Amino acid sequence: MIGKLNHVAIVVPDLEKAAAIYRDTLGATVSAPLDLPEHGVTTVFVELPNTKIELLLPLGDNSPITRFLVKNPSGSMHHVCYEVDDIIAARDMLVANGARILGDGEPKNGAHNKPVLFLHPKDFCGTLIELEQV
Ligand code: CO
Repeated sequence: MIGKLNHVAIVVPDLEKAAAIYRDTLGATVSAPLDLPEHGVTTVFVELPNTKIELLLPLGDNSPITRFLVKNPSGSMHHVCYEVDDIIAARDMLVANGARILGDGEPKNGAHNKPVLFLHPKDFCGTLIELEQV
């Protein structure tokens, strides 16, 4: 069911510093910071030959990643995102197999303006999984 790894998201306390580490120390191509107010994050995209890294900084008062950063003050991996062809079919199969979908179970428009769902980390080896329909 799952396809390519679309991205790995890392929450960071300082976006400029994190972007500099990926650009200057690791030699990757990084984007300019992009505010996504409807998602409560500012993001920098790191383009790799086979996938992307998304560096995330909380934006605004109700950011969904504020608590995560409080618990992980030096930053940490937040989620991995796998591509699926049909997000409704994927969700229905996961639910039938006993997996829990976060929120109301309906896909939302994600950071790339495509439908996404998040799966409960306790059902997936302690890792928050995002599914994105491509
Ligand atoms: Co993501």
